[in-house]
Amino acid sequence: MVDVAILGYGTVGSGVVEVLTKNEESINKKAGKKIKIKYVLDLKDFPGSPIEDVLTKDYDTIINDPDVKVIAEVMGGVEPAYTFVKKALLNNKSVVTSNKELVARHGAELLKIARQRDINFLFEASVGGGIPIIRPLNQSLTADEIYEITGILNGTTNFILSKMADEGLDFNTVLKEAQDKGYAERNPEADVEGFDACRKIAILSSLAFGMHVDFEDIYTEGITKVSDLDMAYAKKLGYDIKLLATSKKKNDKVYAMVAPTMIGGEHPLSNVNGVFNAIFVKGNVIGDVMFYGKGAGKLPTASAVVADMVDAVKHIKRNIVSFWSTKKMELMDINEVLS
Ligand code: HSE
Repeated sequence: MVDVAILGYGTVGSGVVEVLTKNEESINKKAGKKIKIKYVLDLKDFPGSPIEDVLTKDYDTIINDPDVKVIAEVMGGVEPAYTFVKKALLNNKSVVTSNKELVARHGAELLKIARQRDINFLFEASVGGGIPIIRPLNQSLTADEIYEITGILNGTTNFILSKMADEGLDFNTVLKEAQDKGYAERNPEADVEGFDACRKIAILSSLAFGMHVDFEDIYTEGITKVSDLDMAYAKKLGYDIKLLATSKKKNDKVYAMVAPTMIGGEHPLSNVNGVFNAIFVKGNVIGDVMFYGKGAGKLPTASAVVADMVDAVKHIKRNIVSFWSTKKMELMDINEVLS
């Protein structure tokens, strides 16, 4: 048996408990051990909920418990997540997380600590919700030199743009629906201004190119200026408008950007609608590959978190983490690229 702890009982945290309970038997079989939720950390009380007996408000109880080997961080935001995760790794506990802000900002450092201690820091759920993309980039595409990643990486904005295009609805009505469905961030500015997609493309670029791509260096434009008129013109010309996050390598230099983009019907990403995300990858050996699935929401995200927990339990004391160096990659000036 392996004891685990979950930090945060919000949308994703409650999804993680639900998945671990629903598929308990097959998950334990795949992990090779019974996974027992020993603690759930949250500041709120959840009377009558399935985690009532394991709820704690004290992080130190978890960190000081030698039986806890794997911690799932699903709180979101940089602090206190960063302090908790770093402390956990320094105490030889593997960590899995869905937290893209944390991974984009501190991924290189946290991976280094995990590597030094032969434990794991896994973050499949941080990009693309339930879509496997971190593991494929790390394990299945290692023969290739990746030279392009282009993705629809934010479910909320794709949901909004799809509904605006198909049903002629206005921006705020659709945003409200995305929030009600649990897709949007607590502060939806991160979605609609493109910041969420920016962090995700920074993570994928760092993995693909092996160096730290700083999200603050990525040119980012959201969808708030996309009007009904833009939609109508694009449609008339046979195009869709999608919020694309792109990272390309050209003559050993990399550039990256997030922006609403018109794409033709022949492009595989043009058919990705609603909350779905897709990541289109070009490798110099494999050619084109695309990963597609639900990019946001409680259960798809929890599916990726639990898959990482299974891997962490299976590989206690064996580091399977991805590599990207702490060395910062200088990106090409986007004005130079576009001129
Ligand atoms: N707010 C994010 C999205 C959630 O809409 O894609 C998943 O990271």
